[in-house]
Amino acid sequence: PRVAVIVVAAGSGERLGSGVPKAFVGLDEHTVLHHALVAVFAAPLAQVIVVAPPSRVGDALTEAREVAGDRHDLVSVVPGGPTRQQSVAAGLHAVWADVDVVLVHDAARALTPPAVFERVIDAVRDGHDAVLPVLPVVDTIKRVDEGAVVEAVDRSALAAAQTPQGFRRPVLDEAYAEASADHTDDAALVQAAGGAVWTVAGDERGFKVTTPGDLDRARALLRSEAD
Ligand code: C5P
Repeated sequence: PRVAVIVVAAGSGERLGSGVPKAFVGLDEHTVLHHALVAVFAAPLAQVIVVAPPSRVGDALTEAREVAGDRHDLVSVVPGGPTRQQSVAAGLHAVWADVDVVLVHDAARALTPPAVFERVIDAVRDGHDAVLPVLPVVDTIKRVDEGAVVEAVDRSALAAAQTPQGFRRPVLDEAYAEASADHTDDAALVQAAGGAVWTVAGDERGFKVTTPGDLDRARALLRSEAD
């Protein structure tokens, strides 16, 4: 299939508190966005769309072309919106007509290994409309109401969602065309539109850089590998 990857990188990163948009925070000599794009370009792709903060479109294009090398023709950068869902919608508008599989990936999951992209693309190729990489939940989870525990939740029935999430292109287009409420991820949006979502194994390295602690974890991982 012809695969496009939409990399959403338009978040402000307020919870990170570093003063620059999260995608442009340095992990080592490279930014969050650079690392995310290295994994993206390891996959066999037809198109890469980076959704950037409106004020950073030029910077994002420079970074993406640097990672793309001689495949820079595959890259476009579009400005994002105020919510993640609106940023994905902006990216979807830029998908070329001949693309038939669309992956949506959080730039903030900067260290996601290429193998996760392969698993997601393979599952869509095998006939699944929508594919979600997941990790088992390791914590004990409780349902709570105003401070009181209502019940323990059976964690074997739960999974933690990651990205890249992959879709047959018409499935994602239709879900976005119908979307009314704001959903936290694209798989939820497809499910709300009546679609079935299949899971594949995610990866511990696909954690989302959200808090200063996550940033320390990503930096430490890269340092330990550089040694
Ligand atoms: O805020 P959070 O880390 O959950 O965002 C997940 C991903 O969505 C990040 O890569 C972020 O850059 C992106 N995003 C976006 N546009 C927004 C909000 C978030 O592209 N308005």
